[in-house]
Amino acid sequence: MAHEARESGCVGVAGEFRTADWDQYRMDYGDPHRVVEPLEREVAVVGDALEALRAAGAIPHTEYDTARFLAHREAVAREFEIPWTAISPRMQRLLYALNAISQPRVMVAAGVFCGNTFISNAGAGVGPGACYQAHALIGVEIKPDEAARAERNVRRIDPTGIARVLAADALDVVAKLEEPIDLLYLDADGHRGQGKGIYLEILLAALSKMPAGSLVLAHNSVNGGDPVQPYLDYVRNPANCRASLNVILDPEGLEVTVL
Ligand SMILES: C[S@@+](CC[C@H](N)C(=O)[O-])C[C@H]1O[C@@H](n2cnc3c(N)ncnc32)[C@H](O)[C@@H]1O
Repeated sequence: MAHEARESGCVGVAGEFRTADWDQYRMDYGDPHRVVEPLEREVAVVGDALEALRAAGAIPHTEYDTARFLAHREAVAREFEIPWTAISPRMQRLLYALNAISQPRVMVAAGVFCGNTFISNAGAGVGPGACYQAHALIGVEIKPDEAARAERNVRRIDPTGIARVLAADALDVVAKLEEPIDLLYLDADGHRGQGKGIYLEILLAALSKMPAGSLVLAHNSVNGGDPVQPYLDYVRNPANCRASLNVILDPEGLEVTVL
């Protein structure tokens, strides 16, 4: 099936990639492994998004091992306890591919709930989808019970401990981390009523540790509402970041920023 070739795949700073079907593409949050569309179409849509990101200067190329990705997907479906998730199959593939391509030595994911959002990133470095040697892949979840479940899930596919989930406030973790952070994934919804407004706080706390060229991925760039706007304004300002692209391939969206 032919895919819409970048209907709105603007490139450059503060651009946007948008598929024609982004708001009709619906997953079941309670049944995230259900097939939503033919695999070829999912591969093509994500391939177009990666090409837009390459053209924007966010990633050096668009190649990733699609068979390893499917091994990762299968292991997560088999081993993870997921009460619900808003990570669609397209988003799962996109997150894996961005990590597989950029190969962060250290990745921090803030607000990982049951761990599905974390392993969609970390699965490029650990488990059956691993395609490079990572140093530390750190998921952070502020609710202890959820962090414990996420850690249990991750341990089932990563015996190495390179990927791990901390029960902590992501703001504290990025502030105290002594390693450079090569990729920061934002999904925390705050605990003081600020919702996704916490994204900008976390980024600013991490910024001094993030080398030029590192990536920041922010989930809910489409449906994050007013709270996420200050974050989007910040990363889309060329004075702050080298490039930022809103990748709209499902109703949630992912803002991909290169520092
Ligand atoms: C909405 S969930 C993310 C779910 C994810 N998008 C998915 O579809 O699987 C956001 C998580 O962030 C956590 N959280 C909120 N504030 C946090 C903080 N300051 N540090 C770490 N985790 C936080 C919440 O407890 C919650 O589990």
